[in-house]
Amino acid sequence: MGLSRKLSLIAAIVSATVLISCGEKDPAPSPPASTSSPSAPSATPAATPTEAAVNPLEGLPAPYDAADYDQGRRQFAKCRSCHLIEEGAGNRVGPNLHGVFDRKIGTLESFRYSEAAETANFQWTPDKLDHWLANPKEFLPGNNMTFAGIANEQQRQNLIAYLMVETAK
Ligand code: HEC
Repeated sequence: MGLSRKLSLIAAIVSATVLISCGEKDPAPSPPASTSSPSAPSATPAATPTEAAVNPLEGLPAPYDAADYDQGRRQFAKCRSCHLIEEGAGNRVGPNLHGVFDRKIGTLESFRYSEAAETANFQWTPDKLDHWLANPKEFLPGNNMTFAGIANEQQRQNLIAYLMVETAK
């Protein structure tokens, strides 16, 4: 309060004397122009293009690279009550699905499958899973998976794409 008053008074006197003493030399009035320039170059950093473009499905084979990962994750809510996908997380009502692609059906040793699943002879591919999920009962009669199926093809694709990423982690 008192001090700042004093200071501004001093400043006023100083500037007044500067104006008076060196009217034609003009040594000080340049700073405002030079102080604004150092901050300007750093205002345009080019570091953002990569993080905006990260697509978790990038690199998957054809229809699945164009699927909707988030929608697939939401579809997985239909499976989660019976299946875990994290490695080593164990089984629930259904077998753990970690690494399910390329795995032969019915071969997880820690899980008791139906005879139908145990005697079936194929490896899980996105295409096989698509048929399984469309109608489990029709695809493999006698299996134990109590699930009606997902009729919507796009929803199955989204879910399968999600599983391709998440069961391989
Ligand atoms: C009500 C529980 C239940 C639900 C819901 C369910 N499953 Fe299953 N699932 C099972 C059971 C039980 C089996 C074992 C089938 C058998 O032994 O015949 C199985 C088997 C599987 C298999 C074969 C695994 C292997 O090791 O061969 C896959 C793949 C699978 N389910 C995927 C899914 C997906 C994806 C969903 C969600 C859309 C889903 N399941 C929903 C209970 C379920």
